[in-house]
Amino acid sequence: MSQFNVKRPIVGLPEQDPEPQFSDDELVWTDDEQAKIERWKGQYPDPKAAIMNVLWLAQEKFGWLPPEVIQLCADTLDMDYARAFGVATFYTQYYKEEQGEYVLDVCTCFSCQMMGGYDIFHYLEEKLGIHDGETTDDGTFTLKEVECLGCCGSAPMMQVSNGPYVHNLTKEKVDQLIENLRAGQMPTFTSVTLPQDEDEMGGNRRTDVQPEQVETYQTPPRAEATE
Ligand code: FES
Repeated sequence: MSQFNVKRPIVGLPEQDPEPQFSDDELVWTDDEQAKIERWKGQYPDPKAAIMNVLWLAQEKFGWLPPEVIQLCADTLDMDYARAFGVATFYTQYYKEEQGEYVLDVCTCFSCQMMGGYDIFHYLEEKLGIHDGETTDDGTFTLKEVECLGCCGSAPMMQVSNGPYVHNLTKEKVDQLIENLRAGQMPTFTSVTLPQDEDEMGGNRRTDVQPEQVETYQTPPRAEATE
């Protein structure tokens, strides 16, 4: 059987009657939020098209999107729960489970994979003691394996909490990142050098990685779950 046959669902199915995480009193928009929503609704021919903005706003407000929060978003735009749920589950950036304080999205797609993305991923698994989709016991870090984040030129890379990208990862860079995050310091935005600007900008690509140095090329996470 293929080594990629990881035995876990790609998307968690909704429970029948999950315990609500937020009360009815909490599930309301403030006047400011409502004003934003009205503005977004006015930007589309069909106000329902604002669902991505509304889900994002809800995630910023509640931290994640349990069913009752998705329902709030659906009700806000007068649309079916199933359609709002479909959008929320299509994008990994919407959190369907409670997350740690920092979410580490490590890209293991093609370019990152060839540049040692799985080395970085497995290093983080070992360092933090968690696997894909899990959160550390102290609630500080959630680790995720994600698809291409559109920054293949600075592979391997990761994104922190739907925010800054960290480029050209090495294990040393990961150590520094984790230490900084534990101290409450988010990485700052770094622009990526385009090939034509490499000389002028001093370059920021990894040139130290040779194919034989990549240890776990194409090795999915939770290798013990594969056959
Ligand atoms: S393959 Fe990792 S960012 Fe594209």
